[in-house]
Amino acid sequence: MFLDVAIDAARQAGKLLKDNFGTELVVNETHAHDIKLALDVQAQELIEGIILKAYPDHAIFGEEGIRGNQESPHRWIIDPLDGTVNFSYGLPHFAVSIGMEKMGEMVVGVIYDPMRDELFTAQKGGPAQLNGRDIRVSNRATVGEAILSLGMSKHADSIEAGLNQIRHYAVRARKLRSMGSAALDMAFIACGRLDAYMERSISLWDIAAGKVILECAGGTVELSDNKTGKNLEIIASNGKLDLRFME
Ligand code: IPD
Ligand code: CA
Ligand code: CA
Repeated sequence: MFLDVAIDAARQAGKLLKDNFGTELVVNETHAHDIKLALDVQAQELIEGIILKAYPDHAIFGEEGIRGNQESPHRWIIDPLDGTVNFSYGLPHFAVSIGMEKMGEMVVGVIYDPMRDELFTAQKGGPAQLNGRDIRVSNRATVGEAILSLGMSKHADSIEAGLNQIRHYAVRARKLRSMGSAALDMAFIACGRLDAYMERSISLWDIAAGKVILECAGGTVELSDNKTGKNLEIIASNGKLDLRFME
């Protein structure tokens, strides 16, 4: 089953990350607002190997590259390490994110946080689960009682555009957070720890698995349309809040 393969791959990659957490890391690239590790690539290769062994004809669309048959109706959307900057600085808040799209629709999502050993899963039409137990979004219906997570993108212009959201919501929401993993933001809304997440420039691999998990948990995801899967705007929430970007 697709979900079982995704879980196996997420757990194995999660173990690789956890085993390397706090060790000397090989840095491939450093940018103003981003870091790329050799481990990002290694974790994706591990995941790709497991998926393509099970489904040699499927497509892979990952942060660290594309593989497989790109004509396939089945496309696996992977972020092998979501939260690389956290990981590099020793902040134990990061995850493996694996989603699968069938004929353009996201149908499977797995997010694994190896530090807390928390596995978030969903399959379209079924419940969202955390370690095998059903989860639901919060019931908080006003911004005043909500915790909003605002993502800090990788590019100066989108970070700049995000400042308007901080200014607007900081005085209206109960709390703002910016924790450094889009995948965990989505998973945390799905289980009611957070109420919403907004970011002005995100890639499909950051939120693909989270979209399935959150929607199966009763939440909503507004994603700007973009065929490349990059530079997307997202508003994800428990589905009960009136949120928008401030220009
Ligand atoms: C990043 C994280 C971060 C978000 C960035 C993403 P990465 O992913 O999800 O929370 O704000 O936009 O690029 O680079 O750590 O995989
Ligand atoms: Ca990411
Ligand atoms: Ca990543």
